[in-house]
Amino acid sequence: MKIDPWSSTIYQDYTRLRDEFGIEEFSEDLWVDLPKPHKLLRRGVIIGHRGFNQIKQSIVNKKPWAILTGLMPSGKMHLGHKMVIDEVIYYQSLGADINIAVADIEAFATRGYTLKETKKYALEEYILNYIALGLKAKKCRIYSQSEHQDVKDLAYILGKKINWSQMQATYGFNGSCNMTHIFSPLIQTGDILHVQLDKFGGPRHTLVPVGVDQDPHIRLSRDVSQAHRLYNVTVTKDNKIGVFVKTDDKVEVLLNNAEKILNTLNFLKLKRITDYKAIYINDAVEDDIPEIDETFAKLEVKLGGYGFFQPAATFHRFMTGLTGEKMSSSKPESAIFLTDTPQDAKKKIMNAKTGGAVTLEQHKKHGGKPDECVVYELFLYHLIEDDHELHDIYASCKKGTQMCGQCKKYAAELMEKLLLNLQEKRKTPKDQIKKYIS
Ligand code: TRP
Ligand code: SF4
Repeated sequence: MKIDPWSSTIYQDYTRLRDEFGIEEFSEDLWVDLPKPHKLLRRGVIIGHRGFNQIKQSIVNKKPWAILTGLMPSGKMHLGHKMVIDEVIYYQSLGADINIAVADIEAFATRGYTLKETKKYALEEYILNYIALGLKAKKCRIYSQSEHQDVKDLAYILGKKINWSQMQATYGFNGSCNMTHIFSPLIQTGDILHVQLDKFGGPRHTLVPVGVDQDPHIRLSRDVSQAHRLYNVTVTKDNKIGVFVKTDDKVEVLLNNAEKILNTLNFLKLKRITDYKAIYINDAVEDDIPEIDETFAKLEVKLGGYGFFQPAATFHRFMTGLTGEKMSSSKPESAIFLTDTPQDAKKKIMNAKTGGAVTLEQHKKHGGKPDECVVYELFLYHLIEDDHELHDIYASCKKGTQMCGQCKKYAAELMEKLLLNLQEKRKTPKDQIKKYIS
């Protein structure tokens, strides 16, 4: 199995996907204790994660942490794109600083748009919708890849530790791929890691909320972040906690500094073996590793390194399109766009593929299948906040007391409210947009 971020595959079997790629399940213990868990977290729309535990710790311990995500400004924004921004807005309410990339280089490289076109989409479509959906300007930065020199420089530099075999294995690139496309994952890695440069807040935990198709970029970014570290803090084969210097120059200096730092952290039983470029910490346990590692990351910056924390990610499942395939801008009947009129949206909903039985009689007798129903998905992802109300619809559908006609009409009503509200809120004055853009 391969994940291709640029295809329009829909992934159905999320358990298999997790197993195959080592994505962890986004289990309840990760979100129940968060303040007012968002419906996308509560309802299993987030199906997996990498490294979310560290984000949770940052929230609980009130340490600074960041969100970085991005969208390609290609065409119109639909309900599938809205999910990411809904997540971002939730995390903003928990105190994260927000960074959103307008992925114009990627849209240029992979979708064939010009940078002039992407600029127009970004300003007139995407950013207006982010604001209308409720994104606040405070502690929020929206930037374009093509206009961000630090991101592009970092992409170039990070490439030093990525080789062609790795790119082929990760993305299936071959001899006929153009270089701009091949380079675009490095730009995304630059997006993800640049927020940890000193200029943008320094090393800290960063969460990247994305669709599961983005996992190859996440793996690449996590690998690269580690490859650029000067120290590695880890458990050895014989169950010791050790700090290892990863470079070949200035080993003595790095070990001296490591010893000092460990002493300030109150680890005193140290054994240094310069030949192994190692310090073993005999009075540390495995649970101490995250704290030790974070301290070393910050030290690295002072010694001329990057000190990247490994970025975390959550993966959401995709919305099914109203026609039953993937929701996609290139198939307008499959998607509800945030700029659709309520009448357009109603028409699409009325024609949607439901999980209802073939005849009304059978539906009444055997019930419907809400798990296979795109109208139910609309309620679940976007239209109904109250878990009880949602559950009632689920139960009555299964019992056969709720009819598809009723459901569709209700969905269209709620959608009308949502769309009219956005329409109103998109009338953001230009000077307000400026506060978001860097
Ligand atoms: N590749 C993402 C997409 O296809 C967009 C993107 C660019 C992104 N840079 C990012 C997503 C950084 C998350 C983090 O939509
Ligand atoms: Fe879907 Fe509602 Fe029909 Fe059930 S009754 S299948 S939830 S539209």
